Amino acid sequence: MSHIAPLVPENAPFSGSERAFINGWIAAYYTPDIAGELPAAAPAPPAEEFPWHDASLPMDQRMEHAAGRPMPQLLMAAMAQQDCGQCGYLCHSYAAAIAAGTEKALTRCVPGGKETARKLKELLESGTPVAAATLATAAPAAAVPASGAATAAARFRSALPLNRSGSAKDTRQVVLNLYGSGLRYESGDSLGIMPTNCPETVAAIIEALSANPNTDVDCPDGNRRSLLEALSRACDIGRPSDEAVEILASRARDPEQSQKLQALAEGYPGAEPEGADLLELLTVFPSARPPLQEMISALAPLQPRLYSIACSPLVHGGEVHLTVAATRWEKRGRVRKGVASCFLAERAIADLEMPVFVQPPPHPFRPPRSDDAPIIMIGPGTGIAPFRAFLQERRENGAKGRNWLFFGDQRRATDFLYEEELTAWQKDGLLTRLDVAFSRDQPERIYVQQRMREQSARLWSWLNDGAYVYVCGAMAMGRDVETALAAIVARQGRMGVGAAKGYLAQLGREGRFVKDVY
Ligand SMILES: Cc1cc2nc3c(=O)[nH]c(=O)nc-3n(C[C@H](O)[C@H](O)[C@H](O)COP(=O)(O)OP(=O)(O)OC[C@H]3O[C@@H](n4cnc5c(N)ncnc54)[C@H](O)[C@@H]3O)c2cc1C
Ligand SMILES: NC(=O)c1ccc[n+]([C@@H]2O[C@H](COP(=O)([O-])OP(=O)(O)OC[C@H]3O[C@@H](n4cnc5c(N)ncnc54)[C@H](OP(=O)(O)O)[C@@H]3O)[C@@H](O)[C@H]2O)c1
Repeated sequence: MSHIAPLVPENAPFSGSERAFINGWIAAYYTPDIAGELPAAAPAPPAEEFPWHDASLPMDQRMEHAAGRPMPQLLMAAMAQQDCGQCGYLCHSYAAAIAAGTEKALTRCVPGGKETARKLKELLESGTPVAAATLATAAPAAAVPASGAATAAARFRSALPLNRSGSAKDTRQVVLNLYGSGLRYESGDSLGIMPTNCPETVAAIIEALSANPNTDVDCPDGNRRSLLEALSRACDIGRPSDEAVEILASRARDPEQSQKLQALAEGYPGAEPEGADLLELLTVFPSARPPLQEMISALAPLQPRLYSIACSPLVHGGEVHLTVAATRWEKRGRVRKGVASCFLAERAIADLEMPVFVQPPPHPFRPPRSDDAPIIMIGPGTGIAPFRAFLQERRENGAKGRNWLFFGDQRRATDFLYEEELTAWQKDGLLTRLDVAFSRDQPERIYVQQRMREQSARLWSWLNDGAYVYVCGAMAMGRDVETALAAIVARQGRMGVGAAKGYLAQLGREGRFVKDVY
């Protein structure tokens, strides 16, 4: 990376403060010792200035909030607002980079997927031109991770099931060996994993293309590899980009197939096959066989996936533990597999070396500095991961503060992740309280919010004692837990729901209410 930072030109259509903000970001990007080589580590701007910066808002509402704002803010509103770092930036710095033209790829927002990529393209096409901003038909500037975060090689050790037999789920305790990697992490960090695609799917694509796996091609990340390596490591074959679908459409010999592909590329409502991966497109549209290089160049780069670190470095310094839900679903008669979760759960073998990087949380998702402060942790499913790390850390530090965990999953008999550890910690007092909600052990669904409501008075009293509240896990859960907490605060604090939301917002500013949802 060059270390000479370009500046946004004086005549670019930004206000003084926007220009300063973008220049600051670019400086951080170009100057390793300003931001530890990580644009994602640049501080997020104050939340109240960005009313759309709420991951639970749908796209249309985010865009409404941002209406009339300058291009960088419109672009930011199109992001998924998770600040997850998978793109190598935060939402605001990815937007700033696109607006400034230093980032060409519009497909980096993993949680926003095609919806975000399409909105970014639409905004750039329709909006006021901004400094050198261009569309993402060119290859993205950087290899993954886009941030240039220090990657190191970890060695896979194991991926043992955390569910008991008979479970509908497949959650794994993944252990990676970090010895010799030089990587350091803290409780609250996530680990970025660079997965490889499923080899059977890659082989089927190569066969469908009647191609030679050893043919060299230029990859979306700018490197030259064999076709086999390109499809295995460098290309997103699960969600073919609109550009790739357009190329298939333009090269389809059958006009009907071409039309259907074009409808898919343009995102027409009802266009089929919806959500198809590259293999399905090649199978359903056999006349679409573009020149190899054209197709490979149009695919989006395969992005890393993040996993919350589930152990404290004070206890497992040479290792990293993850809690990974293997994601599988069936679509049109074929079992589809999440790239990274199934790579870790099914395909990684002992001692396999894999590139990883440490991603710090954008918000202060860390155990409190004060060992005396009480903490309330709400983490159903894989959301338990960072709290295992927090609890290990508090035990190791001899922290005297009270610890309260809400955990939930489908069934107690098969899905009580880390049951032995958690119940032992409850017995020996590390966990002051452990409240569990098993959603499918009774006819009606019971979630952690129900347990929170049952403990309203106690929760309120902990909050008044200065408790820190952490929420981790799936996005919808995070949104519903926040709503439940606001209702509890309103009732216990005898205030309106608006005031209760303000109370939580204030806790958020103090770093006492922090969510890490995905
Ligand atoms: C900060 C952060 C921390 C995270 N921590 C954890 C963690 O501790 N543990 C954990 O397991 N995950 C965690 N995740 C999520 C993780 O990064 C991945 O997103 C997840 O494992 C899926 O990735 P994948 O590559 O396996 O699946 P992908 O190949 O990315 O496929 C997932 C996509 O497939 C589609 N899909 C999934 N299910 C279905 C379905 N039933 N029907 C149709 N389409 C479907 C959806 O489009 C979904 O986005 C975290 C994410 C972030 C941002
Ligand atoms: N497709 C797959 O194979 C697969 C497998 C595992 C995970 N995943 C995905 O991976 C992500 C994380 O999975 P996970 O294992 O951590 O957790 P999860 O599957 O989201 O579920 C954990 C627990 O939370 C409950 N829950 C669901 N919605 C909730 C809500 N709105 N509020 C509170 N609790 C809620 C679940 O209940 P119920 O499930 O009974 O509703 C379950 O008891 C999710 O996005 C999930 O979709 C996919």
